[in-house]
Amino acid sequence: MSDLTVYLESDARRPELRTADPALMAAHLAHIGILFERWNADTPLPASADANAVLDAYAVPIGRLKDARRFCTADVVRVTLQTEGVASLRAKFLNEHTHDEDEARFFVEGAGAFYIHLDNRVFRVVCEAGDLLSIPAGTPHWFDMGATPCFTTIRFFGRPDGWSATPTGDTIAARFPFFGPDTAQAA
Ligand SMILES: [Fe+2]
Repeated sequence: MSDLTVYLESDARRPELRTADPALMAAHLAHIGILFERWNADTPLPASADANAVLDAYAVPIGRLKDARRFCTADVVRVTLQTEGVASLRAKFLNEHTHDEDEARFFVEGAGAFYIHLDNRVFRVVCEAGDLLSIPAGTPHWFDMGATPCFTTIRFFGRPDGWSATPTGDTIAARFPFFGPDTAQAA
């Protein structure tokens, strides 16, 4: 189930807030400039759907978001334990970083957790199938796909050359619970 957990950045053990109510999640996240929406597929999506079928199924909300947020492209990424280099991929996204454009992801299947570092707090958003999350440019954040990654997302880009990130150098991610069945803190 999708959920939002809010921590003080100085205390990863006692959350200030936890909710799985999509309307409350959207309201809390909107307050800090984060877009959270639930989307429905216009047509049923078979498990074997390729990238074009995924993009076709969500063509209406994809078009709406691209127009509203000036994204020029969208693609589909699928990550599983069998994905080449999956361990280094997880480690890369676990480092807190920023982007010079909004990071928008729609979860078609599976799940993962975004951690947004704002206002001396960490907002942990577990996203599952049907969730759209958009993090504004310049916002420190990290992403954990978990120890057994399994997700498919639509990624949106404002420029054709795609994903690039700037590490903040902050090791805060290591102090917060990882995503997955084993959510033990690192230290
Ligand atoms: Fe990112």
